[in-house]
Amino acid sequence: MLDLHCHLLPGLDDGPPDLEAAVALARGLEALGFAEIVPTPHQKAGSWAPTAEETEAARALLCDALASAQSSLTVHPAAGENMWDELFLARHAQHAFPCYPTQKAFLLELPPALVPPALSERLFELRVAGRLPVIAHVERYADLDHRRLEELGRSTALLVNLSSLGSGAGFFARRRARGLVEAGLIHAVATDAHAAADLPALTTGLRWLRDRLGEDVALRLLSDHPRRIIAGDLPELAGD
Ligand SMILES: [Fe+2]
Repeated sequence: MLDLHCHLLPGLDDGPPDLEAAVALARGLEALGFAEIVPTPHQKAGSWAPTAEETEAARALLCDALASAQSSLTVHPAAGENMWDELFLARHAQHAFPCYPTQKAFLLELPPALVPPALSERLFELRVAGRLPVIAHVERYADLDHRRLEELGRSTALLVNLSSLGSGAGFFARRRARGLVEAGLIHAVATDAHAAADLPALTTGLRWLRDRLGEDVALRLLSDHPRRIIAGDLPELAGD
């Protein structure tokens, strides 16, 4: 499996505070079945916005520690989790915001209280400009009902958190996340893990996905589709 949304790198955001905690999270994700991770540290105005040099230094440190621990996990060069805020919009105007290593797709989160106006049109423009937008944890945005998600999903890859499918979210978030996956509206599932303490919820989420939808669908959402998304290719959904 390949994780395309994960706060794995030490000391950059609200993920692991140090190398030891990052190694513990990485080993836990590897034990769960992840072979590859693209770290996505937060990029937010007024809080975390690590530079490319900082993320690469943190990755080099983690890769060395994992090699010493005989881990075979691949930690790819980092992307970023871009909050749709003034920092992203300023960078967007200059075509300079952190993307996945192929530079063909990028991860976005939305302000939870208010989905930006004309979101579909603006995301479509980004898609036409050659980059696939990927929206993190759509289960959190109550404004995005099934109809709006169906429309957004034609030009944007939609993710839910694996932990939301398990025991990591409250009843309503879990019901919504599961309902979106069952309705075939979601292109891929990612961990959004921040700490080893997230591992039990990820385990229950993975169990639900396999039990409810089968091993083939679980692998499609956690391996095949994430790889295609990073390559800039929007996977077709079950209903297409
Ligand atoms: Fe995240």
